[in-house]
Amino acid sequence: MESDGLPGGVGIRPSPAVPTYGPSVEADIRLARLGRLAACPACPAGPTDHPGPRGPGSEVQLTMAFPADRPRRLRESAVMRDLMRETRVEPEDLVYPIFVVPGSGVKRPIASLAGQFHLSPDNAAALAKDFRAKGGRALILFGLPERKDETGSSGADPDGPVQAAIREIKSAAPDLLVATDVCLCEYTSHGHCGVLSPEGRVLNDPTLELLALQALSHARAGADLVAPSDMMDGRVQAIRQALDGSGFERVPVMSYSVKYASAFYGPFREAAQSAPRSGDRKGYQMDPANIREAFREAELDLEEGADIIMVKPAGPYLDVLREIRLMTKRPLAAYQVSGEFAMLNAAGSVGLIDYRAAALESLVGIKRAGADLILTYLAPEFLRWRAE
Ligand code: PBG
Repeated sequence: MESDGLPGGVGIRPSPAVPTYGPSVEADIRLARLGRLAACPACPAGPTDHPGPRGPGSEVQLTMAFPADRPRRLRESAVMRDLMRETRVEPEDLVYPIFVVPGSGVKRPIASLAGQFHLSPDNAAALAKDFRAKGGRALILFGLPERKDETGSSGADPDGPVQAAIREIKSAAPDLLVATDVCLCEYTSHGHCGVLSPEGRVLNDPTLELLALQALSHARAGADLVAPSDMMDGRVQAIRQALDGSGFERVPVMSYSVKYASAFYGPFREAAQSAPRSGDRKGYQMDPANIREAFREAELDLEEGADIIMVKPAGPYLDVLREIRLMTKRPLAAYQVSGEFAMLNAAGSVGLIDYRAAALESLVGIKRAGADLILTYLAPEFLRWRAE
């Protein structure tokens, strides 16, 4: 009989009926049969990087996990499950995106996003007050301007819908945090997030000043936080410098640092009327296949002065969220985007899933993966469900 390589040449081999799992698991099975654990044959130098007490000379009595160990004990009653819960989503984790339009008295349902509206500043303020009264803590504003041009200049208009809504919301609900999305795509006639060269390339550096002016106009109107979503290189620094240069050093920047060129933005682009007229955003947003690049984006934004960084979308990128969580101790946000929300909604509305349960599960998953903040269209429903 061939030696099995165990110390002392014990000579027990798994029977052919026992499935094989690769060297270390197979060794565990054999050791378990022996009732003792010796050094792992795969890692003779020990300590090893797989679980279990091992190492040279160790002779540990092995406790067969089952029947002594039964994880179900801690799942049996609702109170026990409540006590054992590792992750909780709270109202202060959520940032609610809303869409602001010019005018007054406007409250138009957005066809692509169930339960969401185009709101004029007065109605945005009414919604904000109600949201705050129900326990909501933060909004992020997106604007649909009266007019669009090549350079998105209306984005920095002090009387634009976002700027007006900030003022009205801050007076209706002073302790609600008002964040703003900073980008050109809603304000440019071509729908790109930066200005274009004559050949139609998105020009990075000339865009920075326009973004900074827009961010500054939001801060001047009273925004508590600005959030650039354009993915131009250097924009965090440009915005930080513009804010600091005008006395807004206390206004934080939340950067959409790791933003993928995602198909899940579809419903938003209809809501914000911001789809590019030609081409796509792959020249500035990240390739969904990449994760190493995510570290680079996150690191650069932190170096440039971002106070909070973001991964977007959330659900299909939980691995990225996790990795960035492990990379930095700075606050981390995740955006559960329009397509994620719309899918939950569509599946729920035809009875394929339990909408509420699936929606809550999606939020807990994003938080568990590492998000401190979650931007989500589910925020008002979350508050309602909690109150029930
Ligand atoms: C603007 C912006 C987009 C989203 C947030 N800010 C769209 C895009 O990049 O095309 C998407 C949000 C969502 O889908 O809910 N650049």
